[in-house]
Amino acid sequence: MTSKPKKLVTLDEYIIQSQNRFPGATGELSQLLRDIGLAAKIISREVNKAGITSLLGADGSKNIHGESVKKLDLFADEQLISALNRSLITCMVISEENDGIVSLNSQGGKYIVYLDPLDGSSNIDVNVSIGSIFSIYMRQTRYDPNPSESDALQSGVRQVAAGYVLYGSSTMMVYTTGLGVSAFTLDPSIGEFILFDDDFSMPKHGTIYSINEGSYNSWGEGLKKYIKYCQKEDPENGRPYSARYIGSMVADIHRTLVKGGIFIYPSSKVYPKGKLRLMYECNPLSFIIEQAGGMATNGDKRIMEIDPSAIHERTPIYIGSKQNVEEAMKFISSDKEMAVEAG
Ligand code: AHG
Ligand code: MN
Ligand code: MN
Repeated sequence: MTSKPKKLVTLDEYIIQSQNRFPGATGELSQLLRDIGLAAKIISREVNKAGITSLLGADGSKNIHGESVKKLDLFADEQLISALNRSLITCMVISEENDGIVSLNSQGGKYIVYLDPLDGSSNIDVNVSIGSIFSIYMRQTRYDPNPSESDALQSGVRQVAAGYVLYGSSTMMVYTTGLGVSAFTLDPSIGEFILFDDDFSMPKHGTIYSINEGSYNSWGEGLKKYIKYCQKEDPENGRPYSARYIGSMVADIHRTLVKGGIFIYPSSKVYPKGKLRLMYECNPLSFIIEQAGGMATNGDKRIMEIDPSAIHERTPIYIGSKQNVEEAMKFISSDKEMAVEAG
């Protein structure tokens, strides 16, 4: 006897079913998530055919961080912003690709959305996984006709939803509204995201560490010792750990979510405040990882409790399986204590 085929649930169906569980819900957040899903499908299509059209490569300009902007970065930025502009729910967008806030048509919209439209863009030219990241807040001044940057400076614990789209060997959308993590896989033959898992939880401990080891000489002593610990032979405890570093945070975090382990982008001599952006890289991915049972810290403080002072600020990050991050913190904190003792 053949088994009954599993019912396929699309992203749109799932979002509506989830909304129906909250009788007072207005449906606006659901619409916003569907808008992002639609933009993601368009970006995914362009990412997949970038090699055969002429979208690969830099467009010649630099973004506000002085990094060269790739054509697909701009395409993704435009698609996401225009999808959010359509449904008049979002009053402003803050994107890696735009210096200040981007005010949308609906100044009365109640949501603020942060975007890293294309993460890992240096990997575009070499056909390696990239992604889009989003983080959603409720504006604080509901009836102000001119939402300002200060409206957007909220700590990560106030995110109402966050997620990412990974353009990998398949395209996946992973998001949370604070009630666990839901993951979808894009079936390109029907153009729909199909529910893959509605309660994604990550391993408590993993045997992979992920860090750009080329910067070893510019790290603090505690981190150097921790990486040596990861490499030390101790088969009973799964060491040496394996090293994996893709260079697209979304892809590195997705692997960490599935397999466990730790991802680190530390402060260093080159990047004293770390390289990754708090509001549209670290907060949303920390929300996902925490909802899946993991943890994320800057070495002193939970990432999502950092009080932001600028929309594009950076932070060091240690993120992943709870036990791995706690293990790393023992080395990082003892290094700090020694520095204090040394005066
Ligand atoms: P983006 O492409 O959005 O600028 O982000 C790139 C980021 C992140 O995805 C990745 O983890 C990190 O840069 C890699 O940096 P290094 O090359 O310094 O390791
Ligand atoms: Mn990025
Ligand atoms: Mn980017």
